[in-house]
Amino acid sequence: MHSVDATTEQMIRSVLAYAENRLRLDPVPLDKGSRDPAELDAALRGLLGEDGHDPDQVLGVYAALLAPAVISADSPRFLGFIPAAPTKASLLFDMLISCASIQGISWLEAAGAIHAENQVLRLLADKAGMPASAGGCFVSGGSAANLSALAVAREMAKRRGTRPGQRWRALVSAEAHSSVHNTLRLLEMDALVVATGDHRLTGPAARGAIEADGDPGSLAAVIATAGTTNAGIIDDLAGLAEVAREHDLWLHVDGAYGGAALLAPSVRPAFAGIEHADSFVVDPHKWLFAPYDCAALLYRDPALARFVHTQDAGYLDVIHERPGEWNPTDYAYHLTRRARGMPLWFSLCVYGVRAYAAAIETAIGLARQAAHEIALRDYLQLVREPGLSIVLFRRLGWEPADYARWAARLLDDQVAFMPPTTWDGETVARFAFLHPHTPMELVSEVLDRMA
Ligand SMILES: Cc1ncc(COP(=O)(O)O)c(C=O)c1O
Repeated sequence: MHSVDATTEQMIRSVLAYAENRLRLDPVPLDKGSRDPAELDAALRGLLGEDGHDPDQVLGVYAALLAPAVISADSPRFLGFIPAAPTKASLLFDMLISCASIQGISWLEAAGAIHAENQVLRLLADKAGMPASAGGCFVSGGSAANLSALAVAREMAKRRGTRPGQRWRALVSAEAHSSVHNTLRLLEMDALVVATGDHRLTGPAARGAIEADGDPGSLAAVIATAGTTNAGIIDDLAGLAEVAREHDLWLHVDGAYGGAALLAPSVRPAFAGIEHADSFVVDPHKWLFAPYDCAALLYRDPALARFVHTQDAGYLDVIHERPGEWNPTDYAYHLTRRARGMPLWFSLCVYGVRAYAAAIETAIGLARQAAHEIALRDYLQLVREPGLSIVLFRRLGWEPADYARWAARLLDDQVAFMPPTTWDGETVARFAFLHPHTPMELVSEVLDRMA
C-alpha cells in the first residue's frame, strides 16, 4: 500500500489518465445526481471487503456508475443552489497538495504552505479594507467559518459579564444563512431576527429593533450578510457597522457566497462598511473558483480568536512556545487541517487577480442580461433586480408543481440544473450564475422552456 510497486504504477497510469481526461472536459457535462440506493448498492456489491481488487476494476465502477450519479457543480449548466467553478490551475494544484499530504496546522510543521495561504488571506483582507492586523485561516466552509467566528464573538461578549441563566443573542436579518441559525443553536445563543420590507438588513432597522428590544444587553453580535444565498442581497454594512459600534457589538459579515464580488469594481460600492467587520467569511469554493472545500475566515483582531480557539495539550506546547509564529489551527475550531488555501494561491499566482475580477464580473453580467431577457417575455416576471449573480423570477400562472416539472425536465434533458426556491412563501425560479462560461443561449433556452 505504501511502496511503489506494480499496482502503484498501474494506478499512477490509470487514475492520472482519468484525472487528465476530466480536466480536459470543456464544458463539463451536467450528469444526474439522485439515484435509487438499491441501484448503487448493486453497482458496488462485493468491492468493499477483506480482500482487495484490481484498481482498474474499482476505477471502472467509479467512472461508469458513481461519477455520473453526481451532478457536476462545476458544469456551466449548474445554475442552482450555489455552483462551483474551480479553475484548471486550482484543480491541478489541489491534486498536488493531496499527493504531497501538505498540511497547514502550525508554522513549525508547515511554514511554507501557511505563508502562501496567509498571502491570500492578506489579499482578501486588503480587498475588504481590513487593517494590517487582520488575519485568520482557511476552514472547510462557510458553516465552519461562521461557527468559529461567532464562538469568538460570544466569548468577547462574556467578558462584559453574564447574568445567571443568561443566553447571548445575535441580531440577524430574516435572510441570514441557515448555517448562522445552526451556529447560534450550537452556541446556545438566540437570534434577534429583524425582518425588513425589502429583505435587506439596514442600520436604521437594526437600531430600531435594538431600541424596541427588552434586553439589548444580551446582544453579542450583529450578523450581516454580504450576498444572501437566496437572492444575492448585500446588507447595509456601513449602517450595521455604526450600530455595532454604538452598542459595542461584534460585527460579523457572512460573505460566504457574495464576498468574492469585492473584487468586482461594478458592485464594490455595495460593500462599503465591510472594512469595519470584526470577522469576515468568504468561501473560495464558491465564487473564487477554488475546489471544495475552502472558506477564508478573517478576524480584525486575530489575538481574540487565538484566545478562544487555541487547543492546549502537552504535545502541542512546542508549537505555542515559539512567539510570533502563525498557527492556523489557533483561529478556528479545528486542529488538523489540510492546506486548503494552496490551490487558490497557486491559481491566483498563475492567472492574476485581474482575471478573477473579470470572471466574477462575467457572472454579474449574466444576471443582468438574464433579468433583461426575463423582462422581454410577457409570461415571466422578475421578483427583484439582481444585485449580484442570483436572479429570482416567476412564471405567471404557475403552481409549485409546474416549477418542479420544468426543473426535472431541464435536468433530464441535461439542459440545466435549476431547482426552484421560495420567496415570501411563493415558489419561484432562481438562476445562480457563477461559471464564466455559462452561455446566454442557455439562459434563453431555459426561459423559452417556460413559455
Ligand atoms: C451566505 C452563506 N453563508 C454560509 C454558507 C454555508 O457555507 P458552506 O456550505 O460552505 O458551509 C453559505 C452556503 O451557501 C452561504 O451562501
